[in-house]
Amino acid sequence: MPHVVTQSCCNDGSCVAACPVNCIHPTPADPSFGKSAMLYIDPNGCIDCGACITACPVEAIKPERLLNPDEVVFARLNADHFEEHPHADRPPLGQLRSRSHLDDAIARKLHVAIVGSGPAGMYAADEILRYPGARVTVYERLDEPFGLARFGVSPDHRRTRAITDRFRVITRQKGFRYRMGVEVGKDVTHEQLTAKYSAVIYAVGASHDRRLGIAGEDLPGSMAATRFLGWYNGHPDHRDADIRLDHPRVVIVGNGNVALDTARILTADPDRLAPTDISRDALTALRASEVREVVLLGRRGPAHAAFTLPELIGLQNLPDVEVIVDNRGEPISGDSDVEQILASFATEPANPSARRIVLRFRTAPVEIVGTDEVSGIRVSHTNLVRSTNGSVRAELGDDTEIISAGMVLRSIGYRAQPVPGLPFDDESGTVPNENGRVTAGTYVVGWIKRGPTGFIGTNRTDAAETLASLVADLKVLEMSQ
Ligand SMILES: Cc1cc2nc3c(=O)[nH]c(=O)nc-3n(C[C@H](O)[C@H](O)[C@H](O)COP(=O)(O)OP(=O)(O)OC[C@H]3O[C@@H](n4cnc5c(N)ncnc54)[C@H](O)[C@@H]3O)c2cc1C
Ligand SMILES: NC(=O)c1ccc[n+]([C@@H]2O[C@H](COP(=O)([O-])OP(=O)(O)OC[C@H]3O[C@@H](n4cnc5c(N)ncnc54)[C@H](OP(=O)(O)O)[C@@H]3O)[C@@H](O)[C@H]2O)c1
Repeated sequence: MPHVVTQSCCNDGSCVAACPVNCIHPTPADPSFGKSAMLYIDPNGCIDCGACITACPVEAIKPERLLNPDEVVFARLNADHFEEHPHADRPPLGQLRSRSHLDDAIARKLHVAIVGSGPAGMYAADEILRYPGARVTVYERLDEPFGLARFGVSPDHRRTRAITDRFRVITRQKGFRYRMGVEVGKDVTHEQLTAKYSAVIYAVGASHDRRLGIAGEDLPGSMAATRFLGWYNGHPDHRDADIRLDHPRVVIVGNGNVALDTARILTADPDRLAPTDISRDALTALRASEVREVVLLGRRGPAHAAFTLPELIGLQNLPDVEVIVDNRGEPISGDSDVEQILASFATEPANPSARRIVLRFRTAPVEIVGTDEVSGIRVSHTNLVRSTNGSVRAELGDDTEIISAGMVLRSIGYRAQPVPGLPFDDESGTVPNENGRVTAGTYVVGWIKRGPTGFIGTNRTDAAETLASLVADLKVLEMSQ
C-alpha cells in the first residue's frame, strides 16, 4: 500500500533524503522543486517502508489506507504527478545537494552569526552545526524564536506548526547559542558582527506589508493581513491591532495562501480554534464576532489564483463554512485541478445561516470608502489582457461598485526592508547576492535572499546553497593565509 503526501507538506525535502528508492519528487536537485506546491510519492515506486513518515517534520505523509475521506484526493494527486512527469532513470538514492567538505581544523574555528531565527535561520544553523566543532549564535529581535513558523503559520494548521519541534532539536545541538531580544541594526551593528564572527548570515525575512496605493487605505478598519494574522498569532508587534469584527462582512484583497488562512480564521467556529494555540485575546474577540461573510478579491481569473491546490482542497472540507465562487457570471473552464475544484463550488449560498467565504475573481480595488472608518471598498471589474510574453494582467474596467464591509485587509504579498550596512535592491525587495553571497563574509538566506515566496521547507535547500558559498569562501581565505 503506497504512501501519500497530503496537505501539510512544507517541501522541506527530508522525506526525499529518507526514501531508499527515490520515489519522492520533485527532489531538491530538480529545477521545479522551488515552485512545486508540494512533493509527491510515486505509488508505483513506493516500497511502503515508512522511512518518509518518520522523516517528515509536519506529519504530511500517510499510508494510503489511513487517509481520511477528505484526504483521499491526495492519493490521486500523488499518482497524477508521475503520470505527467515520468522518471524512467531512477537512481537508487534521493538526489540531494552534497555537502561541501570542510577541514576539521577550519570547522573548529568557525563561529557564524545568524540574524533571524525563522525557518531560513534555523536551517542555516543546522547546516553549519553539521561541521564538527562549528558554532552559531542566532540573533533574534523578538523574545520568541522561529519567525513566521511561530507567528505566521495559521493556528488551525497544527501539523505545519509542529515544524517548530524540528527547529527546537536544532537549537539543542552543541555549538548553538541564542541572543534573543537583540535587533541587529539597532542594538548591534553589522560592523560589530563582522568584527566578532567568522561570517554573518542574514535571515531577516520580509515581514513588511505592501500597500495598494489607493484612497482610504489609512482609514481605521483598513490594514494589512499581516497585522490581522499577527494579532491572532500573538505577535508582539500586532497585539494592539484595532480589529473590527462588528460588521457582517470583511473584504480581503488578494487570493494567495495568506488570504485563505485569514479567511478561514475569520469564518471558523471559535470552538474549533479553542484547542489551537491561537492568542486567547483573539479567541475571545472571535467568539463575539459578527462576521458572517469574507470576500476574497482576485484581480485576475480562476486560472491565475495565487493560492495553491493543497490549500484550496483544505477549503473544501471546512465544517460549517460555505465556499462560493463568483466569476462575474462567466463559467469556469479549464483542465487544471484548481479550476475544476473552483467550478465545483456553488455560485449561490445553499445554507444562508452558514458563514461564507466568497472567492470573487476579476475584481480589483479602486478605493477604500468611509468617513471616520471603513464602511466598504469600491471595486472595478477587470478585463484580462494577455501580453506578448504570455503573462496575463488585469486592467480596470469602467463599471465600479461598492462592497460594504467593516474591515478591509490587504493580502497582496510581503516586502523586506533594507538591512543597515548591506546593499538593497528596491525593485525586488531583496539583498543582491550570488548564491547567497553578498560579499565574502556576509551572506543571506530565506525571504531576504530570494523574495517572499515559497514554503517553510524551501528554505532548507536555500540554506544549503548559501552554506556552499560560505564554505567556498572559507577555503579561499584559508589558502591565502
Ligand atoms: C502568514 C504566513 C503563513 C505561512 N504559512 C505557511 C505554511 O502553512 N506552510 C509553509 O510551508 N509555509 C508557510 N509560509 C511561508 C514560510 O513561513 C516562509 O517561507 C518562511 O517563514 C520564510 O522564512 P525566513 O526565515 O526567511 O523569514 P521569517 O520566518 O520571517 O523569519 C525572519 C526572522 O528574523 C527576525 N528578524 C528580522 N529582522 C531582524 C533583525 N534586524 N535582528 C534580529 N532579528 C531579526 C524576525 O523577527 C524573524 O524571527 C507562510 C508565510 C506567511 C507570511
Ligand atoms: N499553507 C501554506 O503553505 C502557505 C500559507 C501562507 C503563505 N504561504 C506562502 O507564502 C508566500 C506569500 O503568500 P501571499 O499570500 O502573501 O502572497 P502571494 O501568493 O504572492 O499572493 C498575493 C496576492 O495579492 C494579489 N495582488 C498583488 N498586488 C495586488 C494589487 N495591487 N491589487 C490587487 N491584488 C494584488 C496577487 O494577485 P496577482 O496574482 O494578480 O498578482 C495575489 O492574488 C507564498 O509563496 C505562499 O504560498 C504558504
